[in-house]
Amino acid sequence: QQGKLWFGTAADIPQTNDAVEQFDTAYLSILTNPNIFGEMTPANVMKFMYVEPEQNVFNFTGGDYFLNLAEKSGAKVRCHNLVWATQISPFLTAQNWTADSLTAVMENHIKTTIKHFSDRCYSWDVINEALNGDGTFSSSIWYDTIGPDYFYLAYKFAMEAVRDTGKDIKLYYNDYGIESLGNKTTALLGLVKHLQHRHIQIDGIGFESHFEVGGTPSTADQLASMKSFLAMGLDVAQTELDVRFTGPPFYSAAGQAQQARDYYSSVAACMQAGRRCIGTTVWDFDDKYSWVPGAFAGQGGADIYNATLERKPAYYAIADAI
Ligand code: XIL
Repeated sequence: QQGKLWFGTAADIPQTNDAVEQFDTAYLSILTNPNIFGEMTPANVMKFMYVEPEQNVFNFTGGDYFLNLAEKSGAKVRCHNLVWATQISPFLTAQNWTADSLTAVMENHIKTTIKHFSDRCYSWDVINEALNGDGTFSSSIWYDTIGPDYFYLAYKFAMEAVRDTGKDIKLYYNDYGIESLGNKTTALLGLVKHLQHRHIQIDGIGFESHFEVGGTPSTADQLASMKSFLAMGLDVAQTELDVRFTGPPFYSAAGQAQQARDYYSSVAACMQAGRRCIGTTVWDFDDKYSWVPGAFAGQGGADIYNATLERKPAYYAIADAI
């Protein structure tokens, strides 16, 4: 991707409970082709439930394996994620925490994890998906127990951990529904301002960009939102781009042509935003292992390769855009 740090993809290698992709050589040869992907994001293995399955018992095996795979093909890694409502460990839900005791758990998790992976992580998504569409904080064990201060505390702990490593590790906030201007984007701009006032490190915003075919925000709308964060001195990245069909058919010529336009207009926004939109990552590159059917019943066909790992029109649309 011209002028960018990368074009990348999420991958579920190894998927802790089902490592099938690991043995799929056709899949792996695309994933690890440095002419296609310059970045990989672990779809699962660095999430809380895998990294700290029991309190203060850390398991970095999956994350280390993933980093080794990425580094072998020269790909950078956006590490994902430290604090999120979902995919948390059973020990977190099994007891009643006070604000102080849960803050200590959060601090330990953030600091231990950042220090372990160090600058093998280009960046960390410190907090993932903290906001509702109306801009209020969404319910999570973190917000419900600690209150709104959890937001600033998470970035403070992450900043302290980064300082201890002495390395350059970028700290991101990652979410969906911020790819255009609106209440959620406005609320996030306020939170960023709040962190900056307190001299807390925040380097960038991840625009997840999970879109629907024909329902993708225009290039101009996506660019306007990016610019509002660039104006605050942040980087931005498209972190989880996919464009799903809300129902079959997933492979009609007309449908794929529209999907290609949707991918094009999204990647074009990052291109037009300049160097500080650092790159685009798709969330799964293939319909074979896509997360979409598991998350949205009856939906699918969201990716740039089909279920037999052939390139779709969307693939070529991205090549045109970059
Ligand atoms: C998804 C993974 O792709 C799935 O394998 C998992 O079952 C659920 O999470 N937003 C995010 C990602 O930030 O972490 C999610 O990943 C997709 C939505």
